[in-house]
Amino acid sequence: MRGVFITLEGPDGSGKSTQAALLADRLQQNGWPVLLTREPGGTAVGLQLRKILLGPDNQLAVMTEVLLMAADRAQHVEEVIGPALENNMIVICDRYVDSSLAYQGFGLLGDISQVKAINEVAIRGLWPDLTILLDVQPAVGLRRHGLHSGRAKGVGLDRIEQRNLDFHQRVRDGYHQLQSMYKERFALIDTTLLEIETVAQRLWEIVVQRLGIEIR
Ligand code: TYD
Repeated sequence: MRGVFITLEGPDGSGKSTQAALLADRLQQNGWPVLLTREPGGTAVGLQLRKILLGPDNQLAVMTEVLLMAADRAQHVEEVIGPALENNMIVICDRYVDSSLAYQGFGLLGDISQVKAINEVAIRGLWPDLTILLDVQPAVGLRRHGLHSGRAKGVGLDRIEQRNLDFHQRVRDGYHQLQSMYKERFALIDTTLLEIETVAQRLWEIVVQRLGIEIR
């Protein structure tokens, strides 16, 4: 027996974390055992890696960034995600392997082959059952993060969020390419004009339908 593995993906400011929490609550209210987790930083070691990865003052080589993201993921799979799935839980992970493919692969390297190979080693076959892509135009997403809402430009953004709009556009286009590469696994919700509750409802319907979860 094995649980169900759901990942939430999307550009910065797509509302993933809010939606991951709402989905976890709703599943729990329906009596399902749920584990909600995130990357980078889903373990104690991962939290240390997160500080290195996102600290605005750290200068990381591209491959260092790829490998540390993968190291965080390997630890997370081994310590948290794998055991929860073994215990038949529904695991909801806020970002996973597709974040590395989109950000480090399409965003930084312009190609996903190396990032994919490294991550295949890290996850040891543990691909998600369902990946929900919360889509948003980068300018809208970064604005949601406060870039243009009265705060000085870039203040409060992490090392990766601070990258220019071209980078974030490559990430978003990359997610669309991943969606067409992995059609069976992906579902997309365009969040640009939607209220939080509307996105949550659509997400719920996708989860119920795709996974054949019975509503109690
Ligand atoms: P996240 O924690 O989702 O951001 P937030 O601060 O909005 O909660 O992710 C932090 C950043 O890390 C985000 O810009 C995406 C980036 N990231 C990668 O570039 N590659 C990865 O593999 C992962 C998991 C995250």
